[in-house]
Amino acid sequence: MGKKEMLGERGPTRYYRIAYAVIIGMIMGLFWAYLRPNGLMGSSVSSTRGFERMPVGGSVKKLDGAILNLEAKVAMLERELGRLEKENAKLIKIKIRNDVLQQERNAAMKQLEALSPSGKVGPVGTVKSVRTQQKVQPDESVNPNLAALLKKIAINEELIVSISNNNVRDMLQIWFESIQRVGVTNYLVVALDDEIASFCNEHNVPVYRRDATISKSQAGTGSNHAISGLKFHLLREFLVLGYSVLLSDVDIVFLQNPFNHLHRDCDVESMSDGFNNITAYGYDDVSEDPTMGWSRFAHTMRIWVFNSGLFYIRPTVPSIELLDRVTARLSKEKAWDQAVFNEELFNPSHPGYEGLHASRRVLDFYLFMNSKVLFKHLRKEANFAEYKPVTIHVNYHPDKLERMRAIVDHYVKGNTNALRHFPDGSER
Ligand SMILES: *[C@@H]1O[C@H](CO)[C@@H](O)[C@H](O)[C@H]1NC(C)=O
Repeated sequence: MGKKEMLGERGPTRYYRIAYAVIIGMIMGLFWAYLRPNGLMGSSVSSTRGFERMPVGGSVKKLDGAILNLEAKVAMLERELGRLEKENAKLIKIKIRNDVLQQERNAAMKQLEALSPSGKVGPVGTVKSVRTQQKVQPDESVNPNLAALLKKIAINEELIVSISNNNVRDMLQIWFESIQRVGVTNYLVVALDDEIASFCNEHNVPVYRRDATISKSQAGTGSNHAISGLKFHLLREFLVLGYSVLLSDVDIVFLQNPFNHLHRDCDVESMSDGFNNITAYGYDDVSEDPTMGWSRFAHTMRIWVFNSGLFYIRPTVPSIELLDRVTARLSKEKAWDQAVFNEELFNPSHPGYEGLHASRRVLDFYLFMNSKVLFKHLRKEANFAEYKPVTIHVNYHPDKLERMRAIVDHYVKGNTNALRHFPDGSER
């Protein structure tokens, strides 16, 4: 019943109402700015100026009355504006819920078609394979404590998860403050030590304490990579409990609600290390061997890797197998977890190897942005000031903390100079 009602709210009227609320809000904002050019603090100053301009005794009283009248109206409009802002946040939540239900409905229809084919293959253009796998049956017995916690935190059975220890405390703070700022409550920090767990508790950040048990070959690779290997192992439980996870490293700043920008149609949806359409989404890279003469050109498939610092993973069998494969390989070899993650996702079956064949989607690299796109390209574009990504991952730069702070300065505090002084890349 609940689902039906929610679906009933879809359609153009719902979006008109959202647009309507936004437009009203903007008009009120403009009106407010017109009445009070100096903001809240300036109200008494501007009325004093009014007296200076009109020193005639009789009209002062009249003017006083008019100002009082206007003040009351402004106060009323301010209250209304606050109410509309709250309403707007609520509408975004409803929109996400509707997206999730619609996306699940589409997936269910395709799954049904695939499981019970009508016998004949339809005409050209009507044949569609399944890329949205069915979710696994949740099994709470793998971790009842975590199950209870996730029941409280998750919304629409999804949440942001980050794995952190005390070494990255400053970045973690920018990370969770940015998530809180965009109104997201379904997020969780997996704390690998007591210091970071109590730090989270002090800041009202949902936290789950977990010991870092790291395999021997990973242990020697330095703290950052050690966490990376562990995260695929820790993620498994979330999926087995039936939750979709937006896994996020801590060197990421959230500027919009990410759940508003997911497609939920693949096992893995990931941000890209690519910096334009072809590198992010794939292209034919032609390699040349002149000694071959007529067949000198060989075509190769290229795509910049999925960034394993920010990906959305649905609780499906291929997803869980992916985590297991990556964990198993990282426990045996000294390898970079992101490389292993991509190999398992992309390599097809071949002699001696069975490919995973999970479905995957690259997220829009202008929405889920890496720091190369921001610092080398976007900040030099003409419409830079008007554009706000969903997330920015400072993955291409070693001065992570400074750049994260500057990103907050620019996008949140409106300091348009905040990003200027950084070089495109690192200096060396
Ligand atoms: C990149 O792709 C998008 C659609 O995915 C398109 O709108 C845009 O024009 C493309 N940009 C370039 C430079 O080709």
